[in-house]
Amino acid sequence: MSATPAGRPDRVAVLCGVGGHLPRHRVGNDELAARLDTDDAWIRTRTGIRFRHLAAPHEATSDLAVAAGRRALANSGTARADAVVVATTTPDRSCPATAPLVAARLGLSGAAAFDIGAVCTGFVYALAAGAGLITSGVADRVLVIGADVYSRIVDPADRQNAVVFGDGAGAVVLRAGHADEPGALGSFDLGSDGDHEDMITVAAGGSRLPADPSRTSHTERHFAMRGKEVYRHALIRMTASARTVLDRSGLTVDDVDRFVPHQANLRILRTVATDLGLPADRCATHVERAGNTGAASIPLALTDDHANRLLRPGHQVLLTAFGGGLTWGSCLLTWPELPPAAAPAHHEQESSP
Ligand code: UT7
Repeated sequence: MSATPAGRPDRVAVLCGVGGHLPRHRVGNDELAARLDTDDAWIRTRTGIRFRHLAAPHEATSDLAVAAGRRALANSGTARADAVVVATTTPDRSCPATAPLVAARLGLSGAAAFDIGAVCTGFVYALAAGAGLITSGVADRVLVIGADVYSRIVDPADRQNAVVFGDGAGAVVLRAGHADEPGALGSFDLGSDGDHEDMITVAAGGSRLPADPSRTSHTERHFAMRGKEVYRHALIRMTASARTVLDRSGLTVDDVDRFVPHQANLRILRTVATDLGLPADRCATHVERAGNTGAASIPLALTDDHANRLLRPGHQVLLTAFGGGLTWGSCLLTWPELPPAAAPAHHEQESSP
């Protein structure tokens, strides 16, 4: 692969479309308080969340992914993609991957299609994989989707997690372009620490412990998170990863126009922004209206910020994520000129790309 004198590849991935989808059913804190030992004040104070959207019983991850993908392709101006990457922790089935089905339903049969499993960091990993497909010349246009239906794996009676997680999907389209174009993806930082694999887990259902109801407990078959410890790790890892990617790019926080972190918890976002030295009004806060949507949270926040004109062409945008694994990752990009996009919760009649 050829490179510019500065060592940067002369063929880079450029973001050229964005779209998101939230299921119709919006659940407020009071609705949860009516069936769980919780209340609006606790949820707002500890998480900042006011609403989350939950998938209907017939809706699976691919349904949300297709809706978000279709919007991102429409926003990019063409329905074509050579590859589809879906980041998810809640695939439609444990086999096969969800991405080939999503590709087929979007009229992209024949495209390379695979899933990425990096829990709430999944979208940043998928973005890196999509960018790699482009810089290596394997693909010219890649649809990168983050989609999760956490309500399928969270125990609805688990008050800690039922109030935090929501369902949704977000997507971006990448195309081949040049490093000096608006939309160009810059440096990445990706990392993991598997010594803490049990901090965020669904213990049963894999090859280690099949989900046989007679040999596993109810708890083992549901999503579990050691919230307080995860919170502490999230602050450390997100701040460090954001600093690493800034250093790698020769930029400082003063160059960052918009910070779009994984929407885990408003307190985490605000603390990381403060620790980095970023003013609160530069930080995306979509979590208030969608909860923690896992791999979908960053592309949903990007779509929402774009719809609300908080992202403007030329803005330097910093993405930072953290999640189970443990995993973390960051990416820098400049925001491109894009057609207006519908906010993720806007449910107009869907049309084919
Ligand atoms: O997306 C991947 C990364 N995820 C994250 O980064 C999430 C990180 N963690 C968190 O966001 C927070 O830890 C939670 C929102 C999950 C929990 O908030 P917290 O402030 O850490 O609460 P806590 O676990 O320290 O619990 C405080 C108290 C406990 O009661 P006691 O022991 O003090 O009597 C909990 O039992 O709050 C109780 N509690 C609740 N009370 C009312 C836990 N959940 C609830 C609830 N409503 N829903």
